Parts: sequence; structure tokens; C-alpha cells
Amino acid sequence: MLFSAACERNKEAILAVLQDWLPPGAQVLEVGSGSGQHAVFFAQSMAGLVWQTSELNANLAGLRERIALEGTSGLAPGSQILMPIALDVSAPVDWPDQRFDAVFTANTTHIMPASSVPDLLVGAAGVLVPGGLLLVYGPFCDHGIPTAASNVDFDLHLRSLDPAMGVRDAVTISEQAQGLGLNPVADVVMPANNRTLIFRRNP
Ligand SMILES: C[S@@+](CC[C@H](N)C(=O)[O-])C[C@H]1O[C@@H](n2cnc3c(N)ncnc32)[C@H](O)[C@@H]1O
Repeated sequence: MLFSAACERNKEAILAVLQDWLPPGAQVLEVGSGSGQHAVFFAQSMAGLVWQTSELNANLAGLRERIALEGTSGLAPGSQILMPIALDVSAPVDWPDQRFDAVFTANTTHIMPASSVPDLLVGAAGVLVPGGLLLVYGPFCDHGIPTAASNVDFDLHLRSLDPAMGVRDAVTISEQAQGLGLNPVADVVMPANNRTLIFRRNP
């Protein structure tokens, strides 16, 4: 089964943010669920959560395996994890024809091409209820300036693997988001020089 050590390190800190920000009984769309560890941990930890997992079509099999094994029992009261849907943020037809209280994504913006990040914002704006939240966890720079040495190294590492990958600019993301009616409401400092950028869709 797919396993992410990073997920194990960051899940508690992200859970605290979700507990602070999500409304009770939130219906959440997760973009790029990866191994599914976050989905399972959050649904085990928060009551009443309805968590829709998603992944690129090519990466669905591993995610499905974890959700089938760990996502159907032992969850917090009233919580459910919905079986993954195929979702490439840059494919408009992939976005579900449904509304969510929140869209959550972790460690995806530095993996997808820079040109796909605005697609993530457009798609999220389209599926959020008025007042709904977009939460984007990961490493970011500001005005192109790294906020930590570790993120410089990480950015170089990513670009050496694939020039299309790289640490994204939180200021640019915020500007693009505002143009779509997603207003920045918080920039939460997270362990290991990560952040959670939070946007609220116009009511
Ligand atoms: C580093 S993994 C993070 C996975 C998981 N969210 C986590 O925190 O462990 C990056 C994920 O982004 C997904 N991804 C990359 N490009 C994407 C796109 N265009 N649309 C949706 N997901 C994408 C990948 O399939 C991969 O699962």
C-alpha cells in the first residue's frame, strides 16, 4: 500500500487547522489525496466529516486500496470517506457537479505544473458553497523570495527531478484567488517551514 512518511509527520498539525476552521459536519473535497493517509486520519479524528477523496486517474489504484481497507470502519461518529474520484485540476470535466463546504489539498501545488495552480483555484471556486473554504497546505515562497533555507533546497531538488515542479509563490496564489472571489483569510504557519493558506469564497 502507498505510504507517505511526510503525512505521518504533518497530519496532527493539519488536523488542528481543520478543527479550527471546518464547520461541524463539513463536506470536504480533497484534491490529490495521494496515499489516503490524511483522509483516514482526519475522518478517524473528526466526527461528522464527509471526506471526498480524489486523485489523478493514473494514481487512483493505490488510494482506492487504502480507502477500501481503512476507510470504512473505525471512523469518528458520523464520519465517512467517499471512494476516490478521478480529478485532474486542469480537466474542467473532472470537477464534481456538487458543492462542498471546503476544498483541501496538501503538498500538491509544488508537484503540479505552475500552470495548473490557477486551475486548482478556478475549480475550487466552482465547487465551494458561498462562504466555503479552500485550504492549501505546503511550502511556499513570497514574492519569489524563499521564506526558509530548507525550501530553497527543496525547490532545487524538485526542479532537478522535473523542471515543471517547484515551490510556488503564496502572493501570486493569493492574487489569483482574490480574482476568483476566494478571499485570503489566514496564512497559518506550520511545522517544517510549511504553511496552510486559507481562502473563503465570497458569500
Ligand atoms: C506529494 S503528493 C501529495 C499527496 C498527499 N496530498 C499528501 O499530502 O501526502 C502530490 C499529489 O499531487 C497530485 N497531483 C499532481 N498533479 C495533479 C493535478 N493536476 N491534479 C490533481 N492532483 C495532482 C499527485 O497525483 C500526487 O498524489
